[in-house]
Amino acid sequence: MHGALWLGRAIAVLVIASVITLLACSSQQPSEPSNSPGTGLSEADRRLLDAENEPQNWLMHGGTYREERYSSLAQISADNVAGLGLAWSFELDTNRGQQATPLIVDGVLYTTTAWSKVVALDAATGRKLWQYDPKVPGEAASRGCCDVVSRGATWYDGLVISATLDGRLIALDARDGRVVWSTMTVDDSWPYTITGAPRVMKGKVIIGNSGADTGVRGYVTAYDARTGQKVWRFYTVPGNPANGPDGAASDDVLKSIAAPTWSGEWWQAGGGGTIWDAIVYDAELDQLYIGVGNGSPWNHQVRSAGQGDNLFLSSIVALDAETGRYRWHYQVNPGETWDYTATQPIILATLRIEGRDRQVLMQAPKNGFFYVIDRHTGKLISARNFVPVNWATGIDQATGRPMEVPAARYRDGDFVLIPGPLGGHNWHPMTFNRLTGLVYMPIQESALLYANDPDYRYQRGLPNLAIDYPKNVLPDDPQAFEAVRDSLVASLIAWDPVAQREVWRVPRPGPGNGGTLTTAGNLVFQGTSGATFEALDARTGRKMWQFKAHTTVLGSPVSYRVRDQQYVAVLTGEGGGYAIGSPFLADPRRKPNGRVLAFRLGGTASLPRYTAATLPPANPPAAEFTAEQVRHGARIFAMVCSHCHGAGAISGGVLPDLRRSGFLPQREAWEAVVLGGLLADRGMASYAGHFSREDVEAVRAYVAQRAVLLRQREDASR
Ligand code: HEC
Repeated sequence: MHGALWLGRAIAVLVIASVITLLACSSQQPSEPSNSPGTGLSEADRRLLDAENEPQNWLMHGGTYREERYSSLAQISADNVAGLGLAWSFELDTNRGQQATPLIVDGVLYTTTAWSKVVALDAATGRKLWQYDPKVPGEAASRGCCDVVSRGATWYDGLVISATLDGRLIALDARDGRVVWSTMTVDDSWPYTITGAPRVMKGKVIIGNSGADTGVRGYVTAYDARTGQKVWRFYTVPGNPANGPDGAASDDVLKSIAAPTWSGEWWQAGGGGTIWDAIVYDAELDQLYIGVGNGSPWNHQVRSAGQGDNLFLSSIVALDAETGRYRWHYQVNPGETWDYTATQPIILATLRIEGRDRQVLMQAPKNGFFYVIDRHTGKLISARNFVPVNWATGIDQATGRPMEVPAARYRDGDFVLIPGPLGGHNWHPMTFNRLTGLVYMPIQESALLYANDPDYRYQRGLPNLAIDYPKNVLPDDPQAFEAVRDSLVASLIAWDPVAQREVWRVPRPGPGNGGTLTTAGNLVFQGTSGATFEALDARTGRKMWQFKAHTTVLGSPVSYRVRDQQYVAVLTGEGGGYAIGSPFLADPRRKPNGRVLAFRLGGTASLPRYTAATLPPANPPAAEFTAEQVRHGARIFAMVCSHCHGAGAISGGVLPDLRRSGFLPQREAWEAVVLGGLLADRGMASYAGHFSREDVEAVRAYVAQRAVLLRQREDASR
């Protein structure tokens, strides 16, 4: 989950234990990778392999197969970026989260948008060429942890291929947006969603999925890019032993290596291990890396009886690209128990380390360490923390395993974990600039209290964490509230991956900033949660330029060229897991729709004026509720509703603030939404299968209490 996780460091540091232990040997299994992408490549495959030679385009999610997100265009540079202006803007159809990286192919910009829609725009003018709506059912929204976002598409030989929130993979004709093929990639009796971008290599398109916070079993599948026919599938965790092998590429390795590391009845909640972001093809070694997510449920005690490493959770796994068979793995968090994913972006590079050129991959997963790993063997080269961490004292160089602080496992008592599940770094793409040798990375500091949940039982379709999440109580006292908010620190940092040290840092207004782009013009571009889009000097971090958007700029920028003019484009739009679940972005104004923005030197366009409509006042019902109702409702709210409507029922302005809702005063109206599914089409599914009328009335009691508090505040400030 990259959602509503807010407990601050100020509180957290009071509770840190500092016991140190050394752990046993790791189980990395090196094997011999082959050394070339092979023969029999099509024209289309070669074009992608040589993407670096087409700097006018942005053919792939990460720019090239190395996913450096580096543009060799230098018309826009640190020297002249002050003259950068808006070339055009295109308004999207919703104010929900926009996290995509656009693609640019021969003068056309293709991007996915919220609700898994796809739009094609003229990259020089912003004129719409076509738009495609896969008609994702509104109910699919409630399966996801973190808004109805989509992080991008892949392009292959005239096809634009992207996945939908409800689990379909769809190939569109790039000329007109017509569906060429569509295939269902998930079993929809489980709460799978897809928000990540597919990747394509050698005629195969690879896609993973999300859902490990509600409870699913993770896998990636390769499909023939031209037909949508399945080629292979790799599961990251063993299935229910009673069901026998899957008939998948993962069968052998799950049996020999992974199964012995699991205990208990992990399959009940799927086990987790979803691949929801990083899928990277290594053209030099002809192998694929997948970044594997957290366990389902989170709590290792519950999931696996507290036993074993639980392979391949929280691991980077290398697969044979042709067959999907296992080559090696590196597990960043053995026995994962904190929502520490290793799904974060992976960059491939050749670094000169101790006098030797090493082919490495780099990842900064949620757990707060920056890893440099040998791509041939999966062995750790180095790791260093880039944010404060309190769950480990370091990574053992010899074994590659973390030196854990035992109390962090919250077996015998609560533990305030740093970084919290928001992650020291999350999906927001980092970049690597070969000219500066630096990695540019959006990071954040946060914490969360972990406690065993003695009442946990598996409920399909609801969050299945097996921690006592509601124990993270938001303080009502305004000063305490602000202290927690201010302890959430976010930055953009430049990191030297060879020396493993920070080179510069710029502060950000809070978590939830955009991905990065770096260019040969000695620039780093990034959007912020402060509604700005900025260009910084890549060597010094000095701010060289900024543009004021109306809303958070959460997308990942790209650069391209049309008719000798260099452009930088990015998606804007509030939303995403942090924004919809965080009480700290509360703004009593309704958020505007997202946009696609494109900039060039001398651009003179401007955004249409935006006047934010103020939200209605607090609207508490006249009804009286019991303290027991409020208490019961608060727990349900924290476990379920808060991820979208905001912790403490304080909305960030994207989804309705329930304290102000017209549905709050009347029990019947409230039930029509929460049990009757009145707003299901808009992404508010019915909870009739999970909660009784009494439960739902208790949630109303809690929100009513929050509304009374809000009214008192509003009255006081009048
Ligand atoms: C996955 C996200 C999500 C979760 C979880 C969620 N909601 Fe919603 N909720 C929405 C969306 C989206 C809307 C409708 C937005 C719109 O109309 O544009 C909504 C609307 C509502 C409304 C109507 C508000 C209004 O004024 O229009 C109520 C009441 C409501 N939700 C209650 C709840 C309760 C109670 C829970 C927990 C049991 C809950 N929601 C959980 C997404 C969510």
